[in-house]
Formats: sequence, structure tokens, C-alpha cells
Amino acid sequence: MRSLSFSPAAERNRAPILEALQRLLPPECRVLEIASGTGQHAAHFGGAQSRWEWQPSDRPGSDFESIDARCADLSAVRPAIALDVLQEPWPVAASFDAVYCANLLHISPWATCPALMRGAAACLAPGGVLLVYGPFLIDGAPVAPGNQAFDADLRARDPDWGLRRLAAVQAQAQAAGLAPGEVLSLPANNCLVVFRVG
Ligand SMILES: C[S@@+](CC[C@H](N)C(=O)[O-])C[C@H]1O[C@@H](n2cnc3c(N)ncnc32)[C@H](O)[C@@H]1O
Repeated sequence: MRSLSFSPAAERNRAPILEALQRLLPPECRVLEIASGTGQHAAHFGGAQSRWEWQPSDRPGSDFESIDARCADLSAVRPAIALDVLQEPWPVAASFDAVYCANLLHISPWATCPALMRGAAACLAPGGVLLVYGPFLIDGAPVAPGNQAFDADLRARDPDWGLRRLAAVQAQAQAAGLAPGEVLSLPANNCLVVFRVG
């Protein structure tokens, strides 16, 4: 068997994110994960919370084998599905209590942000939440040197990528009918940003 794809960052940030999710989500709920990547978050969160019914996803052509292999022994984690945020409507029949998305908005074109907001609003149940994790630019706050360098690196790799202004992301959420909620500060200058079904 080939080795599973691996993200050192996901290994570092999974514990603080799980702690935040445990504060925000009920013990039993249905979660759609967008842009699951290697599946390390799905495996860690699904392993810790057996009553979170976790649906991983990523865009077509992604490494679904790694996601599914990592989560094979976790009965509450569903096989990953192909879901491109930019292809609306999303191919999900169920409604979810939460949509979770980590490290997508700065590593994709800006159009991904309004599409994420619309897609999440369409598949969230009443009282549901969208949880977006990553580094953001916060108006009036100094940008941490690490985030400045990360932003420059992203833009050099692709001019359509880069850290997003949190206020602009929140405006897109509002336009899609999601109300901006708490902004939790997490290690390494990242945030977990909450949006609620209005
Ligand atoms: C930096 S990785 C983050 C993976 C994982 N969420 C994490 O935090 O470790 C970015 C992910 O976004 C996915 N992605 C990029 N554009 C996408 C799109 N339009 N729809 C869905 N996923 C997308 C990529 O395939 C990749 O898995």
C-alpha cells in the first residue's frame, strides 16, 4: 500500500481545533467537512467524538484514498465525497448541523469564499453553524510576521491566493444569510470563525 499523504500543519493544529470544536458543537451532530485534504482532521475529530457523524469531502481528483484509509476504523466517519465548493449546488442530500472548513480560503481564489458561504447556508439545518479555520487579516490589528511571510509566499505561488480580510469574509457570510459569530484565537496566529444560520 502506498503511504498516506501527510500534513505537518494538520498534525500541529488538530488538538487546539478539536478543543474549540468540543466547546462549540453538541456531543451528537452531523458535520460536513469541506476540503478535508489528508483526512488528518476527520480522523482526529472522529476518533475523539464518536457521536459526531462526520462527512469528509474534497474537490474531485483529491486524495480520497488517504482520507478513507485514515478513517477506516471510525464508524461515525463516512467515506469521503467529491465536493468542489465552486460547483453549486453542492452534491449533498442531507442537512448538517455544522459545516467545518480549514485552510481553504487563503489557498484558493476569492470566488471560493462567497461559494462556501452560499453552499453552507444551503445545507445547514436551522440553528446550524459554519466553522472556518485559518489565518485571517483583522482590520486594525497588526499582522504577525509569520502571517505576513505566509501571505507573500502564497501570492508568489498564485496571485489569486492570499490571506483574506476577516471583515470581507464576514460580509460574504451576511450576504448568504449567515450571521457572523465568535472569532476564537488559536495558536500560531490562526482563528476559528463562527457563522450561524440567521
Ligand atoms: C491546505 S489544504 C487544507 C486541508 C485540510 N483542511 C487541512 O487543514 O489540513 C487545502 C485543501 O483545499 C482543497 N480545495 C481547494 N479548492 C477547493 C474547492 N474549490 N473545493 C473543495 N476543496 C478545495 C484542496 O484540495 C486541499 O485539500
